[in-house]
Parts: sequence; structure tokens; C-alpha cells
Amino acid sequence: MNTIASKVNDIFKENFSSTPHLYYSPGRINFIGEHIDYNDGFVMPAAIDKGVYYAIALNNTDEINFHSVDFDEKLTVNIRDIKKMTGWKNYVLSVVNEFLIKGLELPFSTRGEGLGLRGGFDCVFGGNIANGAGISSSAAVEGGLAFGINELFKFGFNRKELALLCQRAEHNFPGVMCGIMDQYANMFGKKDHVILLDCRSIEHQYFPLKLEGYEIVLINTKVHHSLASSEYNVRRKQCEEGLEILKKEKGINSFRDIKIPEELLPFKDKMADKVYDRCKYVVEEIIRTQQAAKLLQQNNLIEFGKLMFETHDGLSKLYEVSCKELDFLVEKARENKDVIGARMMGGGFGGCTINIIKKESVKDFLSETTIAYQKKFQIDPEIIEVGIENGTREII
Ligand code: GLA
Repeated sequence: MNTIASKVNDIFKENFSSTPHLYYSPGRINFIGEHIDYNDGFVMPAAIDKGVYYAIALNNTDEINFHSVDFDEKLTVNIRDIKKMTGWKNYVLSVVNEFLIKGLELPFSTRGEGLGLRGGFDCVFGGNIANGAGISSSAAVEGGLAFGINELFKFGFNRKELALLCQRAEHNFPGVMCGIMDQYANMFGKKDHVILLDCRSIEHQYFPLKLEGYEIVLINTKVHHSLASSEYNVRRKQCEEGLEILKKEKGINSFRDIKIPEELLPFKDKMADKVYDRCKYVVEEIIRTQQAAKLLQQNNLIEFGKLMFETHDGLSKLYEVSCKELDFLVEKARENKDVIGARMMGGGFGGCTINIIKKESVKDFLSETTIAYQKKFQIDPEIIEVGIENGTREII
């Protein structure tokens, strides 16, 4: 058991008398395929060794006791009184709420003893994943709790059902209309493998990540502009608006069905400029991600890296979800010939860049970039080294 898991376990034991089950729930990185999980695209995430640890035990009362170690806050709620709150509470309560909804939706006899939470539980959680860094601490919080509840109450949901449940949980109380990428990677991560997820069919394949001679390093801007979740929903709406026009004008039902970006040109006049730009990015990124998947499977990291830079340009100029701090870090990467690919990662407006760097140049690049970033923004960037891990699981 690592130190965070032990800490979570110890705090549980100080507060409750039972012996908890322990779970690890990872955050994720994403190699390419950004903002297209909710646009029928492909994404290439992987679960990482930064995440959230949970200690959970049933308590045979009507109450759920939560203790967030990272926020040093507690919450006790009656199971009949689950409602929207703020901050971390929204994420855990929304997951519980989804199980309650399921209990109402599914006939009593379909699985095991029937659904609906029968009694409460005690739950302590904490992790080593930065909030707002674009590595999906929210999916880690949701996934670990959903997995634990599913196991302890013996509900029998499979990993895909749990990922979808967590996605709905994020839509509901927190109100972020996210795609499926983060929750899916959280459930389906595989050690040293990349997931190629088809977000239209919600099916995936794995392939091994061979980084011979290179390393993946994340650089956290340490900024998280408050626009992030509201602008996320705006992007989603703009894409829906664009697709509506494509449907009406030409019966195109999915961005996936557009094979080259030029096919969008005839509709330019029918769309607001921003809506056209968003659609153009989406179509380009869906094509790019398919090319990238082939390149990564062939271990052609050099060409793969070039596509990462292209993705960044699209996210920055057409999709407009980058920010000056992220653009600066990617520019620094572009200036260094040993950084073969870099781009902003995740929802944007702050958080991390993901960089593929020649092993022998990692140290120099990071120290030069750190100094330049400090000088420009008076902020210490955080270097995050990640290992690729299995998805959410029980630990001993
Ligand atoms: C967030 C969302 C994901 C995805 C990314 C952008 O992480 O939760 O569903 O849309 O942003 O690719």
C-alpha cells in the first residue's frame, strides 16, 4: 500500500469502527483526440498513476459519511436527502444520485437483489492528482466511488455501465456536459497501453505504448481560468448548432461522416463564424486522430508528434480553448528539436501540456522552460511525470 492509500485507510480507522475496502481510481492523460469525444470522434487516453484512493464500508444506517482528506472536510447526508451542493460534494453526491435513479429505473428483479441503495456507507478519500490540471480528477473521484458502491452493494454493473453512470453524474449535479473519454479511461485503463476509443460506438482497442528513447512529461501551467466549465458547455452547444445545419442542409448526421474538411465549405455562409471554426476543428481532429492512431501503432513517434502540434494549433485558434500560458509552453516545446510533440491536454483554459521528449534532453528542456515560464508569468510550473496504469480497482 502506498503512503496516500495508508493515510486514507488510517483516517478511516480513526473515524469508523469497521474495516474498509480500498480502491484506487486513476486520472488520465490523452495523447490526441481532444474535444471530439462528444462529437463522435476517436480519442487516445490512458489511465495514469495519479488518482484518488477510497476507503469505503457499508454502515447499515440511513446515512452516508464522506470525508475528503484533500479538502479536510466532512459531509454527512441522509440517503433520502441527496441533493445538489457545491465543490467536491457535488461529484460524490451526484454519483450516489445516479445509483438512486438507477434503482428507480430498473425493475426489481433484473440484477441480484434489485437496485437502490439499501443503507448508507462510510467513505474516506484523497489523492495525488491536482484539481484543474486537465488530468481529470473529477472522473477519478466519480469512478472510485461508483466502483466501490457497485462492489459493496453487489449491483453487478460492468465497467462500461459504470463509466456511463459517472458521465451522467458529471452532467447532473456539477453541470459539465462532458463526453465519455475521462470516465472510460478511468474504468478501462491498461498498464503501459493506450486506449483507442471510438466515441461513436463506445468500443475500444488497446495497443502497447512503446516510447523507446522518449518520455512523456506533463507541464502544469498551474492556472485554471474560471471559464473552463461554462465555455466547455458553450463549445458543445456550438458543435450541436453546426451539426444541426449540416443535417438540415445535407442530411449529415455525424461529424464522423465528413471525410475531408473542404466538405464543410459549402455551409460556411450558413453558420456563424465561430460555429464554422468549431466544426472545422472537429472534422480535422477526427481525421487527425485516425492518422495518429496508425502512426502510434507503427511506432512512428516523430510523425505522431507533428500531429500533436497541429492539434494544439486547432485547439488554440479554431476551437479557442487554450490560453496564453498553455500557448507559451507549447511554443517553448516547438522551439526545441528534441521535443517531438506537445499540446494542451484536456478541457483547456489552463491545466497541463503533454510533451513527448527525447530522454537525454528532458532535464535541460524542463529547466529552461521552467525558468522562462517563471519569468513570463511569475508562476512556478509543475512538472508531472506519469506512468500508465490499470483502471479503477480494489487494492489490498
Ligand atoms: C474534459 C471532458 C472530456 C473531454 C475533454 C476534452 O476532460 O471531461 O469528456 O471532452 O475535456 O477532450
